[in-house]
Amino acid sequence: MKISIINGPNLNLLGTREPSIYGAQTFVDYLDTLKEQFPQVEFDYFQSNIEGELIDELHRVGFSADGIILNAAAYTHTSVGLGDAIKAIDTSVIEVHISNTFAREDFRHTSYITPNAKGLILGFGLASYRLAVESFLNA
Ligand code: DQA
Repeated sequence: MKISIINGPNLNLLGTREPSIYGAQTFVDYLDTLKEQFPQVEFDYFQSNIEGELIDELHRVGFSADGIILNAAAYTHTSVGLGDAIKAIDTSVIEVHISNTFAREDFRHTSYITPNAKGLILGFGLASYRLAVESFLNA
């Protein structure tokens, strides 16, 4: 099984960025843990701070990966283009967030991803990604 993880803006700073909200671990570190936990999965990882690059990556993997885990970060709340990209590809997307966006500011309660995603997992810290992997494996 091939799973692509796509992270949006500012998630390259995980580990140092607002650790009280996002934790103290870098994503690259966490990815190693995921690879150990799921040796049967071939993980592909992409992060960008640029909206168009995230759309290009969805197009690139969206016809060959078995599943996509997308944390579009701040673009979740603003990007019609990312929502449209999910509709345009074949592979199912699970939307994840590290924090519980519904327990935060009102502008984080809107998502252009959710209506086009297979499902939504949020609020479990980095474990949100593990839960998304499990949901693809158990589908
Ligand atoms: C986030 C939540 C977003 O509102 C925020 O802009 C992020 C991270 C999360 O994983 O909790 O950058 O997607």
